[in-house]
This record gives sequence, C-alpha cells and structure tokens, in this order.
Amino acid sequence: MKIVVTGGAGYIGSHTCVELLENGWEVVVVDNLANSSFEALKRVEEITGKKIEFYQTDIRDKSKLSEIFSAYTSNSETSENHQKCSIDAVIHFAGLKAVGESVALPLEYYSNNITGTLTLLEVMKQYGVKNLVFSSSATVYGDPHTLPIKENFPLSVTNPYGRTKLMIEEILKDLHVSDPSWNIALLRYFNPVGADSSGRIGEDPFGIPNNLIPYIAQVAVGRLSFLNIFGDDYNTPDGTGVRDFIHVSDLAAGHIKALPKLFTNPGVVVYNLGTGKGHSVMELVRSFEKASDRKIPFKIAQRRAGDIAACYADPSKAERELDWKAVRTIDDMCRDTWNWQKNNPNGFRKD
Ligand code: NAD
Ligand code: WQD
Repeated sequence: MKIVVTGGAGYIGSHTCVELLENGWEVVVVDNLANSSFEALKRVEEITGKKIEFYQTDIRDKSKLSEIFSAYTSNSETSENHQKCSIDAVIHFAGLKAVGESVALPLEYYSNNITGTLTLLEVMKQYGVKNLVFSSSATVYGDPHTLPIKENFPLSVTNPYGRTKLMIEEILKDLHVSDPSWNIALLRYFNPVGADSSGRIGEDPFGIPNNLIPYIAQVAVGRLSFLNIFGDDYNTPDGTGVRDFIHVSDLAAGHIKALPKLFTNPGVVVYNLGTGKGHSVMELVRSFEKASDRKIPFKIAQRRAGDIAACYADPSKAERELDWKAVRTIDDMCRDTWNWQKNNPNGFRKD
C-alpha cells in the first residue's frame, strides 16, 4: 500500500511520514525543499528503520510529476485502460503557509498553492489515482460567531493564504461533482505544535518564527531574547488569545485514520482536527517554562492585525467517523517541543 506525500519533508509531513511508515504504508515523498530540509527525511528513516522514496520536485512541474506517477504504473489486463497505478492515495501538504507573507506575496501564494494543487490533480486524474487527503486549516472559519467550531459553520477568509485553502476546498468539491469516483478528505487543522517524542524531528522555521510555540522555543534556547505577547485585553479568561493547540503526532495520526475512510468511497468529507480545548497564550508560556525549567521573558505588545480572540474545534465528527481523538496535553506539547529544540538549537542545520 503506497502513499504519495507532497510536502513530506515539512513539519507536519515529516511527522505524518513517521506514522505512515510505522503503520505499514510505503511512502513516496515529493517536496521541493523550499521550506524544509532533506535531513528531516533521513531522520524519519532513522526513527522508523524504514526507507522513503524521495523526489525533490516542485509539484507545479507537471512533466516531472507525471514521471513519478508513471514510475509506479504498470500494464494490467484487468484495468479498463490496461494501466494500473500502485499509488493508493495522495496526502497533499505541499504549500506555502505564512499568513503575513501571503499578504505581501499573493501571486507566489496563488501560484504555489492553487497552481500546484491543480497540477497535482491533473496528474492524479491522468493516472487514475482519485483518493486525496488535503491539508486545510481552521483559518477557513474566519472569526466564528460561537465556539466550539463545527465543520458546518460558515466559511470566510481574510488573507491570500486563507483564500488559497478555501479555494482549493471549493475546487476539490467541484472535482467530485464532475466525477464522483474521487474520494477527498478535507482536514481542517487547528494549531499544530510539538514534536516527535524522539526529539529527532520537529518544527524548523526559516528566519524569525511567526507562530507562538516556535517563537517561545527560540526564546528558551537563547536564540531570541523575549516573547511579544500580542494583546492581553481580549475577552478571554486571562486576556490573551485562546487557541486549540494540537500535538503534531496526534494530527499525523488523524491522517492515518482518514485513509481507510477514503477507501469506503465517501466522496468529499470534512473533519476538524483539534483537541476541542482552548488554551491561552499565557498558559502556553507557563507550560513551556515548566517543561524547560527556564523563564520565558515576555512583553505585552499590541494586538496583531487579523488575530481573533479565541478559536477551538468541536472534533467530535472525527472521533465518531474516523475513530480518532487527540490524546496529548499542552504539557506534552511543550515537553516534546523543548526536547527537540534543546537537542537541535539550530534545527536541522549543522551547528
Ligand atoms: P511546512 O512548510 O513545514 O511544509 C510544507 C512543505 O511543502 C515543505 O517541505 C515545502 O518545502 C513543501 N513545498 C511547498 N511548496 C511546494 C511545491 N510547490 N512543490 C513541492 N513542495 C512544496 O508546513 P507545515 O506546517 O508542515 O504545513 C503543511 C500543510 O498544512 C500546508 O499546506 C499548510 O498550509 C497546512 N497547515 C499548516 C498549519 C500549521 O500551523 N503548520 C495549520 C493548518 C494547515
Ligand atoms: C497563536 C496565538 C497570537 C506569536 C496561524 C495561522 C493559521 C494556522 C495556524 C495555517 C495568537 C499569539 C503568536 C507571538 C503571540 N496556520 N502570539 N506572540 O495565528 O492562531 O494561527 O497558524 O493554516 O492559519 O493564522 O497561530 O501561533 O501565530 O498565534 O502572542 O510571537 O499566539 O496573537 O493569539 P494563529 P500563532
């Protein structure tokens, strides 16, 4: 059973590769390494003791993508067109993901995320591979009127990154209408954090991190001097923002549970992948201090433009239909992030 993982060298992709390999899947990674390192895949092999087939390719390069799919396709007497591709499904992580950057570089985001996805879908169609798991985001819910967020809540987006996610969801729904033999899981992630418990792989952002936990981790390890907390006057229990932080290994496990669902021919299915619990920025700071046994110096700064006060999932649909539930706590998330960060102060780059 073979899975193509686009963006498999990235943060969520590499953790999902660990889960796939540990659950007996063969893994083919397609990644241009625009935001990741080959070292991550070497470490996935080391953690699991299994091999990954890797192609350093941009998913917008249709001829290279076709070559990859063609390498797994053989002539068959049983199939209608006498061709059989041995790829069972694609998990599609490849994309650019920084909200602020997407406002400055909309064309890059539309090209990479939308054109990349269209090219991937064309090649999948050509080779008769019609099972897809897509990395969507809680960002498609905008600023929700009530909490927790259910999958049927209204959708709205406020920046180019979010628009690419929503547009791709719509494109995938249109594709299924045109050809119901496609099976597509739209997984809406909340706030993925943490690292593999081995401490060998983790989040390794290039430059100064945009997201909370990698920023805190770099303060703890001494790469940054203090954290700016963006606002302490929100309508939340302690005034700081509240999010549904989910351990990346729980998130990865959700993808493994989505695969058998696809093979039951469900059409397009949508799931929130979150814990269902909201935790504040301040709670995360305190939990990280406990995990690292270090003080995290912080300053209260202005609210960050575009931020909402609170956001957390109702994950009960995934629990009911996929038999999946996030089990790790914020203390687990901070412990594993710290274990990764302290053992790899410069991420995957050599010191
Ligand atoms: P990441 O940047 O670590 O991983 C993305 C990977 O895709 C990288 O390895 C990058 O090199 C690769 N890539 C990008 N464009 C490519 C292209 N054109 N061709 C081939 N490879 C390409 O990001 P991540 O945090 O692992 O996120 C994975 C997916 O999940 C993304 O689609 C992201 O939008 C989505 N997502 C992430 C979060 C989050 O907070 N991390 C939340 C919700 C959704
Ligand atoms: C979390 C909280 C900040 C940094 C983003 C994307 C979203 C999704 C997940 C992809 C907020 C506060 C942060 C800092 C802070 N990604 N914060 N100081 O904004 O919830 O979600 O990542 O799909 O689309 O928008 O995550 O980690 O940036 O922020 O105080 O230096 O931490 O204000 O309340 P966010 P985040």
